[in-house]
Amino acid sequence: MLDRLDRIEKDAARALIAAKDEAALQGWKTKFLGRSSELGEIFDGLRELPKEERRAVGKRVNEVKTSLESAHQARLQELHHDSMMQSLREERLDVTLPGRPIPRGRIHPANQTLRQILAIWADMGFQVYRSRDVETDEYNFGLLNMPPHHPARDMWDTFFTNEPGIVLRTHTSPGQIHVMRERAPEPVRVVLPGMCYRYEQITARAEIQFNQVEGLAVGRAITLADLKGTLINFARRFFGQGVRTRFRADHFPFTEPSAEMDIECFVCSGQGCSICKHTGWLEILGCGMVHPTVLANGGYDPEKYSGFAFGMGPERITMLKHRIEDIRHFWANDLRFLEQF
Ligand code: PHE
Repeated sequence: MLDRLDRIEKDAARALIAAKDEAALQGWKTKFLGRSSELGEIFDGLRELPKEERRAVGKRVNEVKTSLESAHQARLQELHHDSMMQSLREERLDVTLPGRPIPRGRIHPANQTLRQILAIWADMGFQVYRSRDVETDEYNFGLLNMPPHHPARDMWDTFFTNEPGIVLRTHTSPGQIHVMRERAPEPVRVVLPGMCYRYEQITARAEIQFNQVEGLAVGRAITLADLKGTLINFARRFFGQGVRTRFRADHFPFTEPSAEMDIECFVCSGQGCSICKHTGWLEILGCGMVHPTVLANGGYDPEKYSGFAFGMGPERITMLKHRIEDIRHFWANDLRFLEQF
């Protein structure tokens, strides 16, 4: 029995050297130290041996087991070390090589303008409110004082969905109703940025989707002077303190009175050029005093409350600012365009 143990020890030592990787080592372990190994067999048979022999064999079998275990451990470490050295050799990095440049992303020019606009309004105490892109006919038109068949609906060429009464918003103005219904009768001062959709021929000046920033202030004794003062303040902050502005009467069904605000053309300083179409002025937004019907639809008593609203287009403002001649550049994803900003 003792001879047999000597032989096992020798065989195992030889086989261990032949185990060149971790899988082979695992096989070795099962063969020599596993449950059904020869060594295991000897352990199981110990009980049947005569007493004197049992003591000697028992001692020796434990010795062999310990020595195989530590040999296994040592070999495992050796293999780990070898594979580490190998990967160090093969995956060697030349740290003196020059780095590869990582192309840097940029914020889209329309979003740059959008962020500047929102930052100014936030500074002036207006909260940013997000409203939905998919609207009901009622919110997009009806509650904004345009009942079905109202001719003013033609001002907004609309994308209708297969679902009756569900449209893509043509402007951010339906957000006015959402905010008012949520806040009434508390005072409101919000801006609502978001994408709008119009079923239009795409040209250099018109896209089927574009952003708007809507503004709404509702409270007691808000006047046209507040509207003008606030918008002039915005224009100065955005275009520069010296900018000249003017208001022209206009018409929107949801404001009364309504106006458009122009700023003096910054390309020609009002002299007249191709950008301002020789008028000396650039139109930048539509605005007006919230129509009493719209206030009532929002849950405010028009006898007690008043408000103003406005809507501007960040893409249009970006085009003026950077003299971009074609609105289609915005969604074309052409890096040659985008990298300029
Ligand atoms: N919703 C209008 C448009 O899309 C702009 C506007 C907003 C006008 C708020 C007045 C008040 O043209």
